[in-house]
Amino acid sequence: MTLPLSTRILRMGDSATLKLAKRSQELREQGKDVLSFGLGEPDFDTPSGAREAAKAAIDRGETHYTANEGILPLRQAVARTLQDEIGLEYDPKKQILITNGSKQAIAQALLSIVNVGDDVIIPSPYWVTYPELVKFAGGNPVYVPCPADRRFHLDAKSLEAACTDRTRVLLLNSPNNPSGAVLSQDELAAIADVVVRHKLVVVSDEIYGCLVYGGRKHHSPAASLPAMRERTIVCSGVSKAYAMTGWRIGYAAGPVEVIAAMNRLQGHLTSNPCSIAQHAAVAAFNDCRGAVPPMREEFDKRRRLVVDRLSKLPGVRLPEPEGAFYAFAEVGQLFGKTSSKGVLINDSTTFCEAMLDEVLVSVVPGAAFGDDTCFRLSYAASQKSLEEGCARIAKFVAGLK
Ligand SMILES: Cc1ncc(COP(=O)(O)O)c(C=O)c1O
Repeated sequence: MTLPLSTRILRMGDSATLKLAKRSQELREQGKDVLSFGLGEPDFDTPSGAREAAKAAIDRGETHYTANEGILPLRQAVARTLQDEIGLEYDPKKQILITNGSKQAIAQALLSIVNVGDDVIIPSPYWVTYPELVKFAGGNPVYVPCPADRRFHLDAKSLEAACTDRTRVLLLNSPNNPSGAVLSQDELAAIADVVVRHKLVVVSDEIYGCLVYGGRKHHSPAASLPAMRERTIVCSGVSKAYAMTGWRIGYAAGPVEVIAAMNRLQGHLTSNPCSIAQHAAVAAFNDCRGAVPPMREEFDKRRRLVVDRLSKLPGVRLPEPEGAFYAFAEVGQLFGKTSSKGVLINDSTTFCEAMLDEVLVSVVPGAAFGDDTCFRLSYAASQKSLEEGCARIAKFVAGLK
């Protein structure tokens, strides 16, 4: 007998990034030398200041429930960080919530503001989790294409064209996963104009805000126009900036009533995030900011290496990724060709599966992110493995006939 599942959960798809990771794991177990560029996590250690703070918190006995919204020193550290990084002041007592990773912040934001039947605009390509969370909240994902020939940037005209009287939320993610696109201040101002006129709420996922390259700067939509602050929920955390994915500390900053609603939901869902990890995150924000620039510089070197290698390949187009640690390469021109082992390549999935089987390189099909002509390569990997990986991709592409 199988127990019936709720319609709510049946609407939710599996994570495509995890599916491919499983497949490359199987090949590895068969002794194959798979190079994996699938998963999105920094390959650096958590800064020692954060690790030491966690150990000290355990020894002090900070091992009990904390305030549901997170410890005040952490909310204060987040407020200071936001002031420094996006120039906005948030009240740490009322406008900041500490969550189990930014993923929980995004989920709770959507569950707190989306009503059944509301349209939620998701610029595409998008992070795999957004549509699933929107559907789970009862909303309808509405995709606005941001194609490679626009460098995957959202433009205000396309956003305007997608707005109806059912549109309630815009989900923004700059720097973007999977494309690496970073919206400029001017682009955000034009987008903000549409948002304000249509009275939308923005859920702004800024988890890669610290990872922006080539002299660019991260701008938050919350700071783009004065009226945006009161209609934007900023979600971020320590996972990517401080190589702290496993600690599960994120946050949301936004209007008092939304943060209070999200806090209520969190109280019934998970309560506070791990007490020890919260103390580690206080140290990360307060004492480990110096650890970020060296990581960013290393990511930038890898980014330039990947752009240099992949953009030279015939049939591959790679708009320069401006932030995060992903390259989103367009390979639609290669569709219709056959691989050296006789596989017809006709979409991003056949491309990535054949590449994994034939040259043992694991990347993620663009279909998972809403663009079936692309693949995503995470350059959170050593320069040596990226060199080798790009050489294998070049061999695979050269073998397509
Ligand atoms: C765009 C984006 N947002 C949010 C997250 C989740 O991060 P966290 O570890 O803070 O939950 C990720 C993780 O890959 C991501 O790529």
